[in-house]
Amino acid sequence: MTLRHLLEVDDLSPLELAAVLDLAAAPGADPVLRGKGAALLFEKPSARTRNATEMAVVQLGGHPVALRGDEVGIDVRETAEDLARVLSCYHAVIGARVAAHSVLERMAAVASVPVLNLLSDLAHPTQALADVLTVRQHFGDLAGRQLAWVGDANNVFRSLSLAATMAGMSVRGAWPSGFGPEPDHLDRVRSLGGEVLATTDPREAVRGADVVVTDVWASMGQEDEADDRRRAFTGFTVDERLMGLAAPEAVFLHCLPAHRGEEVSAGVVDGPRSLVWQEAANRMHAARGLLGFLLGGSGPGTSVAEGPV
Ligand code: CP
Ligand code: NVA
Repeated sequence: MTLRHLLEVDDLSPLELAAVLDLAAAPGADPVLRGKGAALLFEKPSARTRNATEMAVVQLGGHPVALRGDEVGIDVRETAEDLARVLSCYHAVIGARVAAHSVLERMAAVASVPVLNLLSDLAHPTQALADVLTVRQHFGDLAGRQLAWVGDANNVFRSLSLAATMAGMSVRGAWPSGFGPEPDHLDRVRSLGGEVLATTDPREAVRGADVVVTDVWASMGQEDEADDRRRAFTGFTVDERLMGLAAPEAVFLHCLPAHRGEEVSAGVVDGPRSLVWQEAANRMHAARGLLGFLLGGSGPGTSVAEGPV
């Protein structure tokens, strides 16, 4: 079986993305991790991703081992490459949440098991899978739906804009000047047959949209910029008035944690159009679907029964 890593959602083809969503939505799952381990490494805090991925591993019959960045000391105690080689000896998959995306690339270059991005500065693919799964559950379809992103064009935006495009959705984004996506990301969306319609006016992005999405203005690692960003993003709060411009049946998504009164009003995130709890629950289902896809069949990894002697 070919070794597949998942550092960004477009490491899957659109057909594979649909297959992952189908696995995520299925009532049961093959125990592809029976007798196997999953190393889940977190250089940054996590509530949803750690719990959702650990439980997905359990549901697939495996044993998750969560590791904090400071206990393994990536590039301090040993190199990212050495750590990936060692974790490959014990585990069928390595999931990692890292500050620098390049660390994931270095791990994937030498690991002998799949490396799964659990969030980096550039991407949050497992979140994007849960988000499109949530939209598909709600509307029953994805193709042709309009997604509006309001806020920082960050890691969550990047992965979601790719996943939405792969699923046939159209993507609009509103951000203050200087907080939009890099040209290389827009090219990546174009290479999938999509286009991000960008504006600095949130109303323009949201008008008629089926799905309105936002995220924090200052991501993990950007805490020093929080005040400046709060000023820059004034007017970009997703509130009831803004949601009123979306399609009548529009829904609201947020990866969480949310800052009520900043990127979203309490009335929206806690309101009737919000799917954020379903979205959070779907993190587990999406992780199970993805792991099932990556490890399906005679997946890599060392099982207890067949371990080296
Ligand atoms: N949405 C998300 O990734 O949440 P955590 O940072 O709590 O994992
Ligand atoms: N953009 C946020 C997402 C948190 C789940 C961050 O990177 O901190």
